[in-house]
Amino acid sequence: MLKMIRPVLWMAGATAFVAGTVLVATAPAASVSTESGSGLFRSYCASCHGVSGKGDGPIAANLRIAPADLTLLAKHNHGKFDAEKVRAAIDGRDAQKLHGGSDMPVWGDAFKRSGEGYSEAKVKERIDALVEHIESLQAQP
Ligand code: HEC
Repeated sequence: MLKMIRPVLWMAGATAFVAGTVLVATAPAASVSTESGSGLFRSYCASCHGVSGKGDGPIAANLRIAPADLTLLAKHNHGKFDAEKVRAAIDGRDAQKLHGGSDMPVWGDAFKRSGEGYSEAKVKERIDALVEHIESLQAQP
């Protein structure tokens, strides 16, 4: 089972805890082919959250905490998409917003490590593109 999971996480360039086992994946050597929000989402997020963002990715069932359904973020926030909150959830480096034992990778760190010389500006650019993509996935109220 772990053999199957590992390549997916390797692609995600993330440190993830799967079923209590620590899998440390290194950042991908090649840079992402597309830096568009949907491209980034497919590369880094779809393994858990699913391509559609509904939380039904191929490894979702192996996580201790189910990946959030990202299409319902606005619906669960009185119909308003809170871009700042989503940005903080993706970045994950703000310790106050972290809750213990979450399976959600800390993308602020992962993006900074991936590729060479990734700057804070580049990290922000990627997270902004992802936030925009997630906003486009929101279910209509
Ligand atoms: C290894 C699996 C995994 C991957 C890969 C992953 N996530 Fe998550 N994500 C989770 C889990 C699990 C949660 C729920 C965390 C919790 O409740 O503690 C979550 C929560 C979130 C949330 C917070 C939702 C809310 O309810 O506020 C956002 C936003 C999010 N993920 C976006 C992303 C984005 C964008 C990516 C890709 C850059 C990504 N995730 C990649 C597992 C993952």
